Amino acid sequence: MAFPQTRLRRLRATRALRGLVRETSLEPADFVYPLFVAHGSDRREPIPAMPGVDRLSIHHAVAEAAEAADLGVPAVLLFGIPASKDDEGSGAWDDEGVVQLATRAIKEQVPGLIVATDLCLCEYTSHGHCGVVRNGSVDNDATLELLSRAAVSQARAGADLVAPSDMMDGRVGVLRQALDESGQAETPILAYSAKFASAFYGPFREAVDSTPAFGDRRGYQMDPANGREALREARLDVEEGADIVMVKPALPYLDVIRRVKDETGIPVAAYNVSGEYAMVKAAAAAGYLDERAALLEALTCIRRSGADLIVTYHAKDAARWLR
Ligand code: PBG
Repeated sequence: MAFPQTRLRRLRATRALRGLVRETSLEPADFVYPLFVAHGSDRREPIPAMPGVDRLSIHHAVAEAAEAADLGVPAVLLFGIPASKDDEGSGAWDDEGVVQLATRAIKEQVPGLIVATDLCLCEYTSHGHCGVVRNGSVDNDATLELLSRAAVSQARAGADLVAPSDMMDGRVGVLRQALDESGQAETPILAYSAKFASAFYGPFREAVDSTPAFGDRRGYQMDPANGREALREARLDVEEGADIVMVKPALPYLDVIRRVKDETGIPVAAYNVSGEYAMVKAAAAAGYLDERAALLEALTCIRRSGADLIVTYHAKDAARWLR
């Protein structure tokens, strides 16, 4: 049946009717809120390209985590800014490292909140690459051993989810084995499976000072032009034991999120990254966009594309607006 019998506007007539037939939900329960935890005490430093997001010492990070929890956000994702960096990124597996300390503090003071820990070496290496550098490039297999140490240390500190973001081949399987052998068989892995070499990470690298000292990350992160390869990455991570697969960034990659969702059938996360956050904030500050409307639309569309959960710096604002 076509027009005039069919009139799609009938179900758009009122707010209640639109609500009744809405296909996609957006709730605070879908959000993961990233936190930048810095060494030292009583620090709260703004990150210029990310208005509203600060580098926080542990005490402030706990308060921020509690605030997110009060707003109904179920999880935080921790990034560390260590006091010192070295060639290997040894701060990543220091049991008294900044992420480990913050994990213990948050688990103790906000017990119901899920603590996920980003697992990568780039915040801890002096050269800013995500692994061990040998002969000018990142050595995959040598890096796996260091990532395993970091994963075990994070899980021991109480992390509810470990989230490898390094893009080394084979890391999910190696991490699964390391966690199992260290008695952490119950700790799930949230794998950054399709992580693209993206210009949208710019503000993040400023925040944690992890811009590579030489070269770039294209030798390990994915080419933004590749969709089929993203499915291969996701499939391999599922075979290696990933519990959740992630696509990152989110908005320019909605097609990839959809394909990964259809292909894997396991929970899919999308990372609405720092550059995506910065764009909305900058346009809103200039008066070019209605921040609330634009943001809730963008997050809804990320969910519609197939994301079960969304990692977003907007989590607190969005949760407030969704109340
Ligand atoms: C670490 C990591 C990065 C991001 C998350 N984990 C940076 C990078 O790969 O350069 C980016 C997050 C963001 O931009 O919000 N490897």
